[in-house]
Amino acid sequence: MAGKSSLDFYGKIYFVPQNPELNLRKKEPLMKKKALVAGALGVIGRSLIQELERQGDWEVLGISRRIPDFETSSIYLSLDLLDREACENQLRGLKDITHLFYCAFQPRSSWAEHTAPNLAMLVHCVETVTKASTELQHVQLIEGNKWYGSHLGPFRTPAREDDPPHMAPNFYVEQEHWLRNFHAQAPDADAGWNWSALRPHTVCGFSLNSPMNLSTCLAVYALISKELGLPLRFPGKPGAWESIYQVCDSRHLAKAMIWCATEENAANEVFNITNGDYFRWKNIWGRIAEFFEMEPGEVQTIPLTEFMADKEPLWEKLCEKYGLQKIPYSEIAAWPFADYVFGTEWDVMTDTLKLRLHGFHECLRSDEMFVRIFQEFREQKVIP
Ligand SMILES: NC(=O)c1ccc[n+]([C@@H]2O[C@H](COP(=O)([O-])OP(=O)(O)OC[C@H]3O[C@@H](n4cnc5c(N)ncnc54)[C@H](OP(=O)(O)O)[C@@H]3O)[C@@H](O)[C@H]2O)c1
Repeated sequence: MAGKSSLDFYGKIYFVPQNPELNLRKKEPLMKKKALVAGALGVIGRSLIQELERQGDWEVLGISRRIPDFETSSIYLSLDLLDREACENQLRGLKDITHLFYCAFQPRSSWAEHTAPNLAMLVHCVETVTKASTELQHVQLIEGNKWYGSHLGPFRTPAREDDPPHMAPNFYVEQEHWLRNFHAQAPDADAGWNWSALRPHTVCGFSLNSPMNLSTCLAVYALISKELGLPLRFPGKPGAWESIYQVCDSRHLAKAMIWCATEENAANEVFNITNGDYFRWKNIWGRIAEFFEMEPGEVQTIPLTEFMADKEPLWEKLCEKYGLQKIPYSEIAAWPFADYVFGTEWDVMTDTLKLRLHGFHECLRSDEMFVRIFQEFREQKVIP
């Protein structure tokens, strides 16, 4: 047995040192980690699952209504979190979840309408899992910079975690207040699980059917512009071209999520998270155009929701011409989100020092992130 992990019948892994005399530290039993990811096919959940699989010391279960469209070693539960009874039926048997990552999301047409379904899904999931899983150590909630009103107009920048939210309704605020109270009232609040919440901004990665995925929109917009013989013009507003902006790589976010869920120092804390840099679109646009081998253009404001509506046949032609994956146009790009990002004519900056000061130090440059993500899309035959 020396030098190997042994798995006992309670599912815990105990570390057996190579040479007991050399190992002077107290030998704590290492808990086997079992993650439950709610929202497992979203731009955030999908990358999180891939990162958990990459790290190798997790067993992973994912929840979404759809089934995965990619190869995975994780187990997916097809479950509608709005349905409390279905949640109880499917989740109450999960006795050994150690970490619950909550990144499910239900889009609605207004901020007021967002709250009820998004709060209900969180409540159904957390109440059921905390009751069933006696091994639970952590519950993590994903919020966003809209907490500060970054979608409404200029706000105090760089925003800090203890800045007050904008006036209600805002479902992140409702979700966080509910989670804090639920944790405080839990009978084992001190000895049992703890929680964390992260506030990313404009998460970039691959996903399908996501209402908020800038990187897929940007890639499709660039390719269609190229096919039409146009330069890569900035389709947003002049103020957005000049203003300071920030984004968050989904893989970087996944690493930070796992770190926050497993570090004692991050317990019961809220953290802003971005790539760590700020940029202006006008300064990185050339790099994006270069990737697509296009001339960079200047600003020409067009509402993408309107101007991209008739480009489905062109996208299908492109997929055919370059032998790409046949991804339906409606699933790859949600133009209202691109219009929202490119219409932000004010500085969007959050302070991410709290996360660094607590011990998570990774960061990356956003222009390099776009190039890497587009390269990955190319390798996956999502784009030529
Ligand atoms: N994307 C961004 O740029 C961004 C930035 C900041 C903050 N956030 C926040 O991060 C959270 C996650 O966002 P996201 O962009 O990753 O969302 P997303 O891409 O839309 O993914 C949402 C996930 O939730 C699942 N889901 C939706 N309704 C469900 C239901 N009734 N039951 C079970 N699963 C359900 C979806 O799968 P099915 O459809 O298959 O059920 C999907 O897996 C949200 O709170 C969002 O506001 C996102």
